[in-house]
Amino acid sequence: MRNIDIINGPQNASVIIQGCMRIPALDKDAAAKVIRTAYDCGINFFDHATCYGENGSAEIRFAEAFPLTGIKREDIFIQSKCGICPERNEFDWTKDNILSSVDDILKRLNTEYLDTLLLHRPDVLFDPEEVAKAFDELEEAGKVRHFGVSNLVPMQVELLKKYVKQPIIINQLQLSLEQSQLIDQALYLNNKTTDFSINRDGNVLDYCRLNDITIQAWSPLQVGMFGGTFIDNPDYPELNKTLGDMAEREGVSKAAIAIAWILRHPAGMQAIIGTMNPEHIKDICAATTVELSHHDWYELYLASGKFLP
Ligand SMILES: NC(=O)c1ccc[n+]([C@@H]2O[C@H](COP(=O)([O-])OP(=O)(O)OC[C@H]3O[C@@H](n4cnc5c(N)ncnc54)[C@H](OP(=O)(O)O)[C@@H]3O)[C@@H](O)[C@H]2O)c1
Repeated sequence: MRNIDIINGPQNASVIIQGCMRIPALDKDAAAKVIRTAYDCGINFFDHATCYGENGSAEIRFAEAFPLTGIKREDIFIQSKCGICPERNEFDWTKDNILSSVDDILKRLNTEYLDTLLLHRPDVLFDPEEVAKAFDELEEAGKVRHFGVSNLVPMQVELLKKYVKQPIIINQLQLSLEQSQLIDQALYLNNKTTDFSINRDGNVLDYCRLNDITIQAWSPLQVGMFGGTFIDNPDYPELNKTLGDMAEREGVSKAAIAIAWILRHPAGMQAIIGTMNPEHIKDICAATTVELSHHDWYELYLASGKFLP
């Protein structure tokens, strides 16, 4: 595993994060095996959200399983997110909702603190002064050590930063070889012949790099949001051929090469994996042993269906 010091945040954090969105599908013993396998592979960072599983069931399952792993709380970083409220069908970043969400998260996770709290999808009605008060209370109470966001465009981060005194250290964004808009728009810029040039996020990748915000890439193996993985997917023959050739060359799995593609980017991102299969976790963690060349990176990008303008 390779670790990074997140600027203004957790130090020595693994570049691969174990996402826990899919953990409610497991029983307690299987969940413990996933957590322990990830940890034994060097993963020390676990990602949650209030909306993973019904009524916080991802956080609950994690907390039930964690004591079975023998891992100490202080040896891992636990991150959760709040702001998506499926039961009310709205996004809510009001002070009351942030504070009560964190209290509920801590209860469900059976922990006294979160290493990082991210505000999940943007509540377009958010009042940055209210968010600032919530962050101050959470920090003063020792409930949250670091703060970040997820799926936020640069100007919304700027708006938050005007009022919030804690550094915004993370922006969790979707990125995979198939969902690569973070990168596409900068490459195709004003090219009228392709939709790849459409700027959908205000150049958030470069914004984060300029502002010391670490990007966490979510769903790194997915097609669209819920389209399943592109690994071994017959709809992506060229991508699978290129992934397969590099995997054979490096002696790792195709999934490891797809993760290595994200980690090769000089922005110094973390990749959040979602597999609940211990063998897949082990395979993927080999990504950190792979040094993709500059040319490899482009070859994979082009094999995913893009072209050089
Ligand atoms: N901030 C946000 O808005 C947001 C949104 C979505 C997700 N997330 C975070 O991102 C994490 C990862 O999302 P994700 O689960 O969509 O990520 P992913 O790693 O792209 O996809 C994992 C899925 O791919 C399957 N898969 C098939 N073949 C695989 C292989 N060879 N290796 C690995 N997986 C394979 C897995 O099945 P098996 O379990 O059978 O391996 C699993 O269902 C989530 O847990 C969550 O923490 C954040």
